[in-house]
Amino acid sequence: MHNFQPMSIQYFEKNPFELIGKQWMLITALKEHKANTMTAAWGGLGVMWGKNVAYIVVRNSRYTKEFIDSADTFSLSFFDESYRPALKYLGAVSGRSEDKIANAKLKIQLHEGEGGMETPFFDEANLVFVCKKMYAGQLDKENFQIPDIQDQWYKDEDYHVLYIGEIVEMLAR
Ligand SMILES: Cc1cc2nc3c(=O)[nH]c(=O)nc-3n(C[C@H](O)[C@H](O)[C@H](O)COP(=O)(O)O)c2cc1C
Repeated sequence: MHNFQPMSIQYFEKNPFELIGKQWMLITALKEHKANTMTAAWGGLGVMWGKNVAYIVVRNSRYTKEFIDSADTFSLSFFDESYRPALKYLGAVSGRSEDKIANAKLKIQLHEGEGGMETPFFDEANLVFVCKKMYAGQLDKENFQIPDIQDQWYKDEDYHVLYIGEIVEMLAR
């Protein structure tokens, strides 16, 4: 197992557009002592309600959504380029149909937070955000300001749920 160090967010120097949009991330959460994960390339980092936050969007159809909904926390794990094939695989198959994490040959570590709260993340990651859920709500088609968004992304009505999580720990290896 690799050794991760908590780091103050003030030392975070990455470009979030590259990090999330190009490098991608794994969103991971725990349900009944089991972890599931999925690749994501949409989301952001910012400040909300006086906290440093990450936001993610997860479609209703994703198995990972059940895990995020049942937990108080989730993690965002970032990897170097050599893990691109693993991220492609984890973004193409569902944990409903196979043991994705084992098949991707990745290992889960558990972060123990306040009150012993456990959050799964990846041992092979080089940067991890542990996030505590602050907000969850489905994107509502009535609120799209550009009709193209509905036509381009939600023809099947499989809407994204927006989660805003307080970044309670940034771990670096
Ligand atoms: C590069 C990439 C980015 C993705 N980004 C997202 C995303 O931001 N939100 C989302 O709901 N699905 C996204 N997906 C799709 C999920 O990762 C994919 O449906 C996955 O198989 C879901 O797995 P699960 O059913 O085990 O949760 C992305 C897939 C890839 C390959």
